[in-house]
Amino acid sequence: MNYGRRNILLKSASVAGWMGLGLGAFAHERPAVPPSTMRLISIGGALTEIIYLLKADAELVGVDTTSIYPTEATRLPNVGYARTLSAEGILALRPTQLLATAEAGPPIVLKQIIDSGVPLSILPSGHQFIDVIDRVRTIGSLVHKSDAAEALVSQLRLEWNTTQKRVVNSKLNSTRVLFILSQNPNQLMVGGEKTSAAAMIAYTGARNAISGFSGFKPLTPEAVIAANPDVLLLTDQGMKAVGGISGVLRLPGIKQTRAGKEQKAVSLEAMYLLGFGPRMPLAVAELNLLLQQAMA
Ligand code: HEM
Repeated sequence: MNYGRRNILLKSASVAGWMGLGLGAFAHERPAVPPSTMRLISIGGALTEIIYLLKADAELVGVDTTSIYPTEATRLPNVGYARTLSAEGILALRPTQLLATAEAGPPIVLKQIIDSGVPLSILPSGHQFIDVIDRVRTIGSLVHKSDAAEALVSQLRLEWNTTQKRVVNSKLNSTRVLFILSQNPNQLMVGGEKTSAAAMIAYTGARNAISGFSGFKPLTPEAVIAANPDVLLLTDQGMKAVGGISGVLRLPGIKQTRAGKEQKAVSLEAMYLLGFGPRMPLAVAELNLLLQQAMA
């Protein structure tokens, strides 16, 4: 996927603003970090975000290409895309600890890393709020920042409560949303059941327009027309890759759907929308707002 980068701090900050919340830790001044012997590589943007929020980033010696937030992370040595890692790039950084989500692979590379003696912690990649909390706690314990992790958990719970109140009042329960993870302009790859996209749609109170299969799958134009979504949801990167809203409307089958006829498509940055990192409560709130605006 040819993903561009986009600073989404402003978007998140605006939601944080109306929620009456601070994004907190990113903006705080950093205390002096005691010297550490840990050389940590983080494979997964959500994990990297947590590491920065816990102020354990002094330990980071490398990240993957999904680690695009905060922007400081993009200045670290990069070991490639989480799903297509190579052992050489990772081992060259002489890590003492590798942290990865369950999407990391391929398995043969993970095995090579384990065989080389580098401890590898794989965190489950669940798509529920509680999974975000679990990741914060697990990473907190791994980088010896359990107090900071508990403070972050409390902040996330507050944000989550605020988001849930907003969702309850927003009445999107008859809005049918089709998530398009565009790989190329000629094929529609959509989010079926048990995907991060489906979980986000459900959390906003809306409904996934497609069911009957799990995972991200290509969809025929006929199936797209039959799904007849009210709104299309993409990542900013996917939207850019297909050439914006006009490109979305040219995707096979889209013009014959309600969303296509009414030109209703919304997008958010990929890791913000689907990463299930610490910005997840804000992302649900922002997606809820975008869907409400699209349906108004
Ligand atoms: C080499 C370039 C890339 C390729 C070939 C690629 C390919 C893919 C594929 C095939 C999927 C669907 C996975 C599935 O079926 O479960 C996927 C999902 C995804 N990708 Fe990428 N991708 C690339 C780069 C990126 C980058 C740079 C980012 C982040 C900035 C990213 C973020 C995501 C996200 C958030 C998902 C949904 C993840 C999930 O919920 O499991 N990808 N990508």
